[in-house]
Amino acid sequence: MKIFIDTANIEKIKEINDWGILDGVTTNPSLIAKEGKDLKTIVTEISKIVDGPISAEVMSMDAEGMVKEGRELAKIHPNINIKLPMCVETLKATKVLSSEGIKVNVTLIFSSQQALLAAKAGAAFVSPFLGRLDDIGTDGIQLIAEIMTIFNNYGFNTQVIAASIRGPMHVSAVAQIGCDIATIPYDVLKKMIEHPKTSEGIAKFIADYEKSQKN
Ligand code: G3P
Repeated sequence: MKIFIDTANIEKIKEINDWGILDGVTTNPSLIAKEGKDLKTIVTEISKIVDGPISAEVMSMDAEGMVKEGRELAKIHPNINIKLPMCVETLKATKVLSSEGIKVNVTLIFSSQQALLAAKAGAAFVSPFLGRLDDIGTDGIQLIAEIMTIFNNYGFNTQVIAASIRGPMHVSAVAQIGCDIATIPYDVLKKMIEHPKTSEGIAKFIADYEKSQKN
């Protein structure tokens, strides 16, 4: 499974990229807004750090505007993919952009029917939001499993990005069902490394070794 980071914060992206496990980055307008810089500046900086897909979301809500904004963003770097929110206009824009070789990530996916339509339109990625489904008492993991089954049934090349991940158990769950990509917040990535028994074990190895050197 590929691991993307779900943030627009340059320092956090650099830190996780240095771990050697990062395959890509997803941003969204809410994450960009937190950084106090414009989308193009942030995406340009990210493209200099990470060698993998980078999602940049357009703000137009009509197909023509989406295509125009998408073409502009795609010029920044070949790794940029255009993130579009699920709606009819997005399907139309996805068809155009994908036919020009510009990759599209259809976001705000909350049903397998939406994912099927996005794939049919030529989306390179779909982003089902599992945490936001869990928030309203629906099974987000089940949605991702359904989408994986449908895409496998028909041989779609569209990759599934598990988004809106809220904790390490979400990551384990999507990895177990064979999801292509998980886009993970910085705090969750940090939690994935930690285990109290690992810390305890390291402390014991060091203490035992140091004690032996004093004898
Ligand atoms: O990037 C989209 C998605 O991951 C947002 O997550 O936590 O705001 O539901 P969240």
